[in-house]
Amino acid sequence: MKTPDKPIFYLFLILASSSLFFTATTAKSTIEPCSSNDTCNSLLGYTLYTDLKVSEVASLFQVDPISILLANAIDISFPDVENHILPSHLFLKIPLTCSCVDGIRKSVSTRYKTRPSDTLASIAGSVYGGLVSAEQIQEANSVTDPSVLDVGTSLLVPLPCACFNGTDNSLPAVYLSYVVKGVDTLAGIARRYETTVTDLMNVNAMGAPDVSSGDILAVPLSACASNFPKYASDYGLIVPNGSYALAAGHCVQCSCALGSRSLYCEPASLAVSCSSMQCTNSNLMLGNITVQQSSAGCNVTTCDYNGFANGTILTMLTRSLQPRCPGPQQFAPLLAPPDTVPKDLMYAPAPSPDYDGPGSIAASPGSSVIPPGGGSLPGNPANGPAGSISTAATVYSFSYFFIMFLISISFVFSC
Ligand SMILES: *[C@@H]1O[C@H](CO)[C@@H](O)[C@H](O)[C@H]1NC(C)=O
Ligand SMILES: *[C@@H]1O[C@H](CO)[C@@H](O)[C@H](O)[C@H]1NC(C)=O
Ligand SMILES: *[C@@H]1O[C@H](CO)[C@@H](O)[C@H](O)[C@H]1NC(C)=O
Ligand SMILES: *[C@@H]1O[C@H](CO)[C@@H](O)[C@H](O)[C@H]1NC(C)=O
Ligand SMILES: *[C@@H]1O[C@H](CO)[C@@H](O)[C@H](O)[C@H]1NC(C)=O
Ligand SMILES: *[C@@H]1O[C@H](CO)[C@@H](O)[C@H](O)[C@H]1NC(C)=O
Repeated sequence: MKTPDKPIFYLFLILASSSLFFTATTAKSTIEPCSSNDTCNSLLGYTLYTDLKVSEVASLFQVDPISILLANAIDISFPDVENHILPSHLFLKIPLTCSCVDGIRKSVSTRYKTRPSDTLASIAGSVYGGLVSAEQIQEANSVTDPSVLDVGTSLLVPLPCACFNGTDNSLPAVYLSYVVKGVDTLAGIARRYETTVTDLMNVNAMGAPDVSSGDILAVPLSACASNFPKYASDYGLIVPNGSYALAAGHCVQCSCALGSRSLYCEPASLAVSCSSMQCTNSNLMLGNITVQQSSAGCNVTTCDYNGFANGTILTMLTRSLQPRCPGPQQFAPLLAPPDTVPKDLMYAPAPSPDYDGPGSIAASPGSSVIPPGGGSLPGNPANGPAGSISTAATVYSFSYFFIMFLISISFVFSC
């Protein structure tokens, strides 16, 4: 290109670079250094790139399908639930073990077998929804020529995760790796996950409350922690509010009671053979709570789950005197397996609001080059939890079109 000599060209450059800030800067992600080999429970925020069976999502991440359903509070008692087809663009939380590899927190338990017409970019941006980049897959597998991918190659897919010692502001927390979408604002993300902008900025070491499409944030979800002995195989179990987790070889399910930070576990509703779940020296079963009003207060006895060790379900009888007898415990409601993308706050807004049915899937999250808001219709009521998001989208689309206009002008001038 010849040397520009027109003021409008400089204006164009300034505006173009500010538009690049939104579109073409390298996506940021949060890196947590680590030193020991310990692991923790973490979650991936994953948006389905196409209709997939529960079992297909599970094999994409090599995670137990029942655990995925329970992490999303989906009722597992539905007949043939593992073959239920989940709709494209559904947002799911995928439970994953977070490890420490080469001094950095990441999950390395996922492998992908390449299929015809896959490219590293399509695997990263589409299949794994932008949770990984093509470069990261290339590096993890020492792929020398990414243009030649043999069908059936098993690729390690490193995925982002964080532990931060299982706490956030000294309270138990599980970290969700969340891929920022075009319509997202930090305030919107904070609201959706019941945290604050300040907290998200602190956790992700952000200098300003700005996010760009494709960034990966570690979002702390308030959780209930266990206090199992170290020798339990599920030592350190921690369950985010609103999720359920399976333990003890599918025999026990645990969750937070609503409005409480204590982990509550009970026998799972799955037909598997389990060791005894009765508390010793008691007729109480795991999860049973008895209350007895006395002159001193309320005598509460619970039979608690205390971890899984050597094939045995450990139980612990706990007695306490409380000022008042507790009411019945309440839990996050279990949802029917979804057939459509719910507009519920539990789920992220659909990445492409103008999506209108199967077959019209054009861009998938992460692989999209549409600037933030460019793919969204301002004011689409189906799209967002907040009006401010639509406003922001309008501004971005406006600046996008303005820049396109300037580009055309500058071409006219330079020709
Ligand atoms: C960490 O893992 C390595 C290999 O996986 C093992 O040799 C080492 O003993 C582990 N260290 C600890 C502290 O668990
Ligand atoms: C990690 O969390 C535990 C409580 O869960 C706390 O006792 C410990 O001090 C924390 N460690 C660090 C390094 O923050
Ligand atoms: C837990 O989630 C429920 C909704 O499922 C919400 O009403 C409640 O405020 C949450 N509690 C905490 C401590 O985040
Ligand atoms: C104790 O727990 C078992 C298993 O969940 C349940 O079937 C039973 O009804 C409970 N009993 C009481 C008294 O709550
Ligand atoms: C586990 O249980 C088996 C059989 O009950 C026993 O032989 C073994 O010593 C136990 N191992 C541990 C570590 O407790
Ligand atoms: C609870 O009640 C039992 C019998 O009713 C009594 O033996 C026990 O001391 C009481 N526990 C507390 C903590 O008050």
